[in-house]
Amino acid sequence: MLVPSLFLLVCELLTSSQGLDNGLALTPPMGWLSWLRFGCNTDCEKKPTECISENLIKRTADVMASEGYLEAGYQYVTIDDCWPEKSRDDDGRLVADKNRFPNGMKELSRYVHSKGLKFGIYEDYGNLTCGGYPGVMGHELIDVASFAVWEVDYVKLDGCYAEDMDTGYPLFGKLLNYTHRPILYSCSWPAYQNSPNYTAIAESCNIWRNYGDIQNNWQSVVNIMNWFGEHQDDFAHIAGPGNFNDPDMLVIGNSGLTVDQARVQMAVWSVLAAPLIMSVDLSTIKQEFKEILLNKDVIAVNQDPLGKQGLRVYNEDDIQIWIRELSNNSRALAFVNLRTNETEVLYTHEKIKLPTQDYIVKDLYGEENDTILGSTEDFKVKINATGVKFYKFIPKADEVDPICENEIK
Ligand code: GLA
Repeated sequence: MLVPSLFLLVCELLTSSQGLDNGLALTPPMGWLSWLRFGCNTDCEKKPTECISENLIKRTADVMASEGYLEAGYQYVTIDDCWPEKSRDDDGRLVADKNRFPNGMKELSRYVHSKGLKFGIYEDYGNLTCGGYPGVMGHELIDVASFAVWEVDYVKLDGCYAEDMDTGYPLFGKLLNYTHRPILYSCSWPAYQNSPNYTAIAESCNIWRNYGDIQNNWQSVVNIMNWFGEHQDDFAHIAGPGNFNDPDMLVIGNSGLTVDQARVQMAVWSVLAAPLIMSVDLSTIKQEFKEILLNKDVIAVNQDPLGKQGLRVYNEDDIQIWIRELSNNSRALAFVNLRTNETEVLYTHEKIKLPTQDYIVKDLYGEENDTILGSTEDFKVKINATGVKFYKFIPKADEVDPICENEIK
């Protein structure tokens, strides 16, 4: 008797208070997603290297494993919208497009896993996905079952055409938990609401999109930064191990950002403890952008184990300062210049909201040598046009002396 048992399961899930319990995203997830770069391109005949297909996913997984991305922490390879057939099968199951994914999702997932990576997939809580493919509404159980059979590790659940998200997103999260497979749950829920209840969202989701879609241009990156700066008091404090706000994908490596602008996005996203989700053709990316994506010191800020989201603490005359508290009393400071000319600025400790003490200052993009900033000294920063200076400030008193450390060992 399938129907009554399903009914009982749904009732049990709806009434149980158990929230998200998957042990995932203790630091912001890192990976790759097809959407920004490859969109809903389904024409593999005309554009064989650009279409959403198993070839694209395999090619991306190969590069991520062989070119240092996985080693740097990027582990999720996620297919965004436009992967299924337009109709479910006779049993109501989602089916991967037969031409573009001839071997099906399970085989593709196994391939991704064979590279040491994790496999992610997109769906939508409504009747249809934003791109017009079948959504999960009314098929929640069978879709979660398919994802478990396909050994999916990450689900991005969008909210086009969805109703009653406050019930649906938690229910779907509980179904994911119910598989006993650790599946990272990325929700678009707040992006579709005017006054989201972030506390409830964090109880159900690992990461969540707060705002509209990023585009392949500088204005869009600045717009998202400004929105996050203006609304930070609503949600920055909710972030922490297991739960992160998501300002959307990294545009880095595509045609829309210069190297300086790409450095801004990587720095601010790291201060925001944002998921670092690339969306670029990794087989053709230029070296200078690859270096930004693989910058170990910047990634270390993003992945700081405290998981504390940073804040915009200064925003005047097109100069912004973003600060994130890190472990060991250190801080990351991003000085962003939105002006179209190079700018030199001078700050007091008070202005940059730093406790007054001596610091070792490290330039995380490695252009300047380490310096010591005394507690009474002002801090001078020279920033490229539409660029960033990104520093780690380490309290001098807390510095671990390498000689002592060796002696202790
Ligand atoms: C929405 C999402 C995007 C992408 C598209 C796919 O716009 O916000 O990130 O997933 O849908 O159709």
